Amino acid sequence: MNYIGIDLGTSAVKLLLVDEKGKIMKSLSKEYPLSFPAPGWSEQDPADWWKAIKEGLKELIADTDRTKIAGIGCGGQMHGLVILDEKDEVIRPCILWNDGRTDKETRYLNEVIGESTLAEKTANIAFAGFTAPKILWVRENEKENFEKIAKIMLPKDYINYLLTGVFSSDYSDASGTLLLDVEHKCWSKKMMEICSVREDQLPKLYESYEVTGTIKEEIAEEFGLNKDVIVVAGAGDNAAAAIGTNTLKDGACNISLGTSGTIFICSDAFRQNKNNAIHNFAHANGRYHLMGCILSAASCNKWFAENILETKDYQGLQEKIDDEKLGNNEIYFLPYLMGERSPINDTDARGMFIGMDMASDRTDMYLAVLEGVAFAIRDCLEVARDLGIDIEVSKICGGGSRSKLWRRIIANVLGIELAIPASEEGPGYGGAMLAMCANGEYENVEACADALIQIKGYERPDADIAARYEERYKRYKAIYPSVKQLFRQLHQ
Ligand code: XUL
Repeated sequence: MNYIGIDLGTSAVKLLLVDEKGKIMKSLSKEYPLSFPAPGWSEQDPADWWKAIKEGLKELIADTDRTKIAGIGCGGQMHGLVILDEKDEVIRPCILWNDGRTDKETRYLNEVIGESTLAEKTANIAFAGFTAPKILWVRENEKENFEKIAKIMLPKDYINYLLTGVFSSDYSDASGTLLLDVEHKCWSKKMMEICSVREDQLPKLYESYEVTGTIKEEIAEEFGLNKDVIVVAGAGDNAAAAIGTNTLKDGACNISLGTSGTIFICSDAFRQNKNNAIHNFAHANGRYHLMGCILSAASCNKWFAENILETKDYQGLQEKIDDEKLGNNEIYFLPYLMGERSPINDTDARGMFIGMDMASDRTDMYLAVLEGVAFAIRDCLEVARDLGIDIEVSKICGGGSRSKLWRRIIANVLGIELAIPASEEGPGYGGAMLAMCANGEYENVEACADALIQIKGYERPDADIAARYEERYKRYKAIYPSVKQLFRQLHQ
């Protein structure tokens, strides 16, 4: 049988058609707009996602035997607030995971409700991108919209709702709402009370690999699919990517270099991360994980090349950078183009270059951008290391991971080995795998990943380069604390 994997990303939706042996038969992506209506705000129209998915699906299955398609699984950008009224109309554009408008609400949650109460009820503290502060923002700033809310959904849940008519979510994605009691896997009564939300406004919760329903009759007719095509609850994109890279066993790690950058560490048991600088979330295999998320990763690369240097010739930019340059750059870049989530939790922070002199050129600045992202991921890794977690190897996926140079920088900045899966399509592939498991192709997610995921190569740190980067990282680390107050003043 064949399966469709959907990766509902921030810049585009990626669709994959995969057979039960994991062979990608076809893949395509459809872009949609992202709007920044005010500084630090980030929104998308859910109608654009749906339009792109419908167009993409038609192309994806155009020349295939549709009767063989058995299931659909979606991994989606996390934390976005999608609100529907009584008539199932979307009330306002989705407020995305990298939106920083909720500084006031985030502070209220962390300082007035208190980090310890939040941690006790949800296993996490508030970050501006999480869903609960956004609900508070709508309650405060768009009262009329707030009154109309009948359903609160995460982005991929909206897609699943349109496909099946079932109002569902899964534990991995729900973890990022700050409304879920992650340890006990249920909506937190206390958080619902704080956000003035009723349980009937929230989706029913499932494990990612559970079937929530079959496609609606009109969808089956429109796409020429069987009526009994199953849809699984799916997962947040990072958990889906972890499935798609076989990052499932206790201590296993995956780094994703998409619009955001994440470091995802599996944990069999629920574990409270004391300072909560990285997230404690449920995994898509029924277990748990810790995750650090930086808001701008591959997007820094795109921003610097396309907006600043006005080129799309990434290869041209990267081929000027040889091993000699790695760890010898005098320029540093803070990659906080959308503020920052982990570990600094600062919506006022912004991008910054420091260290240029008359000899500096565009290649040095470009390298600083790639290195800045690697250093910011290292900041998250250091939080995990402080918790006693020892990581020697990590998978790597996402668009940015296609660059050999960037992988080399990351391996050396983190001082760990990177294992490169044969397919870097983490979330969409993971979505398809969840559907395969639900349809009984494999006994469980682990068996499926062991059978399907191959590693095509490794990026290993080089002793000299890693030592140079160790020194550079110490200097990088000193930059943000010395400009933190300034960022705040600049935004007042
Ligand atoms: C994770 C996060 C991002 C988005 C990107 O917490 O906010 O990785 O899921 O799609």
